[in-house]
Amino acid sequence: MKDKIKNTSSLEELQELYTATFGKNGTMTAKLKNMANLSNEERAVVNTENAELRQLFKDKQTELENAALNAKLATEFVDVSLDCEPENRGTIHPLTQSFKEVVSIFESLGYTFMDGPEIEDDWHNFTALNTPDYHPARDMQDTFFLENGNVMRTQTSAVQIRAMEKIGAPIKMFTVGQCYRKELDATHSAMFGQIEGLCVDKVEKKINLSDMLATMRTFASKFFEKDNVELRIRPSYFPFTEPSIEIDMKFGDKWMELLCGGMVHPNVLKNCNIDPNEYQGFAFGFGWARLAMVKYGLDDIRAFTDGDIRWLKNSGF
Ligand code: DAH
Repeated sequence: MKDKIKNTSSLEELQELYTATFGKNGTMTAKLKNMANLSNEERAVVNTENAELRQLFKDKQTELENAALNAKLATEFVDVSLDCEPENRGTIHPLTQSFKEVVSIFESLGYTFMDGPEIEDDWHNFTALNTPDYHPARDMQDTFFLENGNVMRTQTSAVQIRAMEKIGAPIKMFTVGQCYRKELDATHSAMFGQIEGLCVDKVEKKINLSDMLATMRTFASKFFEKDNVELRIRPSYFPFTEPSIEIDMKFGDKWMELLCGGMVHPNVLKNCNIDPNEYQGFAFGFGWARLAMVKYGLDDIRAFTDGDIRWLKNSGF
């Protein structure tokens, strides 16, 4: 038997031998069963044989398994130096990238992120923002009206109203989200992102336009990673701020519009049940895509939503 085991050349054969020896009707099993009828000396012989056979089977099994593994390694060879097609890596969309940056900057300045719906009612999108239905400023925005009288929100300013209704004052919040207007060219898209911020506190704190300017300087310096940010302000008009301004930023020797804003109009505070004799503050709005375009040197706003992967790749993301 010992020679048979030593000369086995396959695991299957070894298994057969093992069954013939240690299986239910195996030769060794029979001997072990018969131990009770044997003398001490005879038992010692059987025990030794038992131990030797088990060791032999074990060694042979290891030997055959190693041989099988080596044979496999010799045939299944992987050449890691072969050329292959590079993996297509996903990239972060520039809007997502700038969204993350904007959120982290405003949060670091103590503003809380708040969200609002993209389908808005007339009150939050217009009326509460001091833009009643007879107001000519409604014409500044080509609105998509829904059949039930709601609108696709034309501005994230609607979220200011929701925030003040919910939290009251003092409040320091911002939002980033999509808005919709019926316009489309290289610098306008029917769906476009806006960033909106609001900072209102007790009148004693004297929050004013200089505070807003300082906030914007900090924001621009962090977002555009520039130490010296040059800003200028121009007078403007929005129904929900008084006075209203636009802020430009100098890039090289060119001024570019950065954002709009102003001191929150007393009527807007009243519409949110906040007493304008007790509270005052500023609000501002940015074009989200515009920020990303300026930062990453992109020139067509429509490309953001075209879903063209070649553009994403070439824009360096
Ligand atoms: N909602 C304005 C727009 O869409 C932008 C804006 C202007 C937002 C002034 C403000 C603000 O919060 O105070 O053109």
